[in-house]
Amino acid sequence: MTSSYFKTYRQMKLFTKSIMMKTISITNQKGGVGKTTTAVNLSAGLARRGFRVLLVDSDPQCNASTHLGVTHEEDKRTLDDLYYQPELQAVDIIQPARGFDLLPAGQALAYAEQKLAGVPGREMILSEKLAGLSARYDFCIIDCPPNLGFLTINAYTASEGLIITVKPEYFALEGLKQIHSILGFIRKRLNPDLDVLGYVITDFDARKNQHKEIRQAMIRTFNGKVFDTTIRTNARLSDCSSAGSSIFEFAPKTYGAIDYMNLAKELEVRHG
Ligand SMILES: Nc1ncnc2c1ncn2[C@@H]1O[C@H](COP(=O)(O)OP(=O)(O)OP(=O)(O)O)[C@@H](O)[C@H]1O
Ligand SMILES: [Mg+2]
Repeated sequence: MTSSYFKTYRQMKLFTKSIMMKTISITNQKGGVGKTTTAVNLSAGLARRGFRVLLVDSDPQCNASTHLGVTHEEDKRTLDDLYYQPELQAVDIIQPARGFDLLPAGQALAYAEQKLAGVPGREMILSEKLAGLSARYDFCIIDCPPNLGFLTINAYTASEGLIITVKPEYFALEGLKQIHSILGFIRKRLNPDLDVLGYVITDFDARKNQHKEIRQAMIRTFNGKVFDTTIRTNARLSDCSSAGSSIFEFAPKTYGAIDYMNLAKELEVRHG
C-alpha cells in the first residue's frame, strides 16, 4: 500500500531506496582482477567520506577478511554460519574493521552450494539476512568470489548494483559476456532492480598502449558506465593486502590511496 505522499508504489520504492543502504557487489568471474583490493579500499574510502559502510566478504578464500587482519578462529562465527543457521542474524557476526564494519568469510562457504542444495529460496538467503541492516548502513559492499556460482548469485540477488573490476588484458571484454548473461537471468527471476553501476579498470599503466586501447574499447562498448577513475598499478596496494589495514593507513600518499579515494568520490557523485 502506498501512503498519501506517494502517488505510485514505484515512487515510494525509489524514495525508500534513496534513504536506505545501497548494496553493491564487486565482481568478475575472472580471478585476480582487483575485486578484493577494490572492495576493501573502496569501503575504507567511503567510510573516510563519512558514510556508514559494511563490507561483506563472500569469498571462501577469505581474502578481504585477511586483508583487514581478521583471521578465522574456530569459535568465531562467519558468513557461512549465517547461511547455515536460519535463526542467526547478520548483526551477531559483524565486527568493526578499519573505520567500517566487516562481515567476515569462513572457508566453509566453499560447501554452501552443496549443503544448501534443495533448500527452497536458497538464492535469497543473503538478501534476507542483509535486509534487516538497511537503516544501519549507507553502503554495503560485497566482495564476490571468482566464479558465477551460488555465492555470487546470492550477492547479485542482494544487490542493487554491480561494480565490475577489469584488468586491461586482451579477452577481458570477452569474459564479461558471461556476467551480462547471468545478470539477465537474475533480473528476470530474482532481482529486477539489479544493474551494472560501473566498470573499474584496475592495475592500469598509462605507459602501455594495450592498456590505453582496452580502456578506449571499454568506453566505446559500455557507453557512460566506465568509471573516469582508473586504479593505477601500485605495488603498495599489493603490499597492503597482508598488512591488516587499508591503503589509507598503510601508504596514504601513494597512487593507490589517491585512486581509491577518487573512486569513492565518483561513486558518491554518481550514486551516493
Ligand atoms: N592496482 C594494483 N596495482 C598493483 N597490484 C594490484 C592492484 N590491484 C590488485 N593488485 C594485486 O593483484 C592481486 C590480485 O588482486 P585481488 O586479490 O584484489 O584480485 P581478486 O579479483 O580479488 O582475486 P580473486 O579472484 O582471487 O578473488 C593481489 O596480489 C593484489 O594485491
Ligand atoms: Mg578476491
